[in-house]
Amino acid sequence: MASKNQTLGEFIIENQSSFKYSSGELSRLINSIRLAAKVVNHEVNKAGLVDIIGAAGDTNIQGENQQKLDVYANEKFIHTLTNRNIVCGIASEEEDDFITINSQDENHQNKYIVLIDPLDGSSNIDVNVSVGTIFSVYRRITPVGTPVKLKDFLQKGSQQVAAGYIVYGTSTMLVYTTGDGVNGFTLNPAIGSYYLSHPNIKFPENGSIYSVNEGNYIHFPQGIKNYIKYCQKEEDNRPYTSRYIGSLVSDFHRNMIKGGIYMYPKSSKNSNGKLRLLYECNPMAFLAEQANGKASDGFTRIMDIAPTELHQRVPFICGSKNMVIKAEEFMFAAK
Ligand code: AHG
Ligand code: MN
Ligand code: MN
Repeated sequence: MASKNQTLGEFIIENQSSFKYSSGELSRLINSIRLAAKVVNHEVNKAGLVDIIGAAGDTNIQGENQQKLDVYANEKFIHTLTNRNIVCGIASEEEDDFITINSQDENHQNKYIVLIDPLDGSSNIDVNVSVGTIFSVYRRITPVGTPVKLKDFLQKGSQQVAAGYIVYGTSTMLVYTTGDGVNGFTLNPAIGSYYLSHPNIKFPENGSIYSVNEGNYIHFPQGIKNYIKYCQKEEDNRPYTSRYIGSLVSDFHRNMIKGGIYMYPKSSKNSNGKLRLLYECNPMAFLAEQANGKASDGFTRIMDIAPTELHQRVPFICGSKNMVIKAEEFMFAAK
């Protein structure tokens, strides 16, 4: 039974047997993410002190300017997962292609693949605002012992076996699910351990926060425009409060605790929105559903979308169940 004051390490051991594919491999994987997150957290916390912030000069596959901490976080997560010989493949928002891992032992039996957004909200680093890391875990579908293939990574979100995020905020938290609810652990930096601070997190079914980059309003589909007007109308418990940090992890985390909806719709500028299905939307959708929330592209459940490419983008509406249902009603009505 989950109890407060339990460390993440204790929690992983205690809950290992309740995981349906239990073999210890997934526990080791979460442990590695916990370790890499601690190292990245240390570096993120120092961002204002050392000359590490700023563009590294490279552009990633989406043509976006990479920040140095993006590169650092990407390397740390990939190295930790590779060196500890835990997964058979990794795909990262910061890498053009997926990485194949050949384990040192003769018949490499690793069956999990990981997809990561190593640093989410990275444009917020320069201004001391919370950023995060998002991860998503699947079992490979190609035979164990052979090199991973693209199809191992292009599985529907509904096939995820684990997903989570780390938020490097006023406190650092690791929040994850293995399909049995969502639990949040807060890092005690003095000791270096994560403690179960938020057991069994659930989205309130109704919320009063809407989170969207309203500067793009003019470019939004009519359904989203109408829903935003609904959020702002003085009626029942509305108008809602508007809150938008610009770090998906932080916006999601706040909405899950307080009740709210996050939207990154398509626009006349970005025909599929901005967020990536595999690195951002699917893991957040899995967490949302495990926390009694909902995630949709406006018409379809996010986790039912069949991916066609690694860096695919999709419109994303996610949060308290009744709010997402209402937003979908507006989308269908304006179709
Ligand atoms: P990343 O830093 O990994 O590229 O992700 C940034 C994403 C997401 O975290 C955030 O919600 C969104 O971009 C903000 O985009 P806008 O600045 O267009 O609102
Ligand atoms: Mn991101
Ligand atoms: Mn990123």
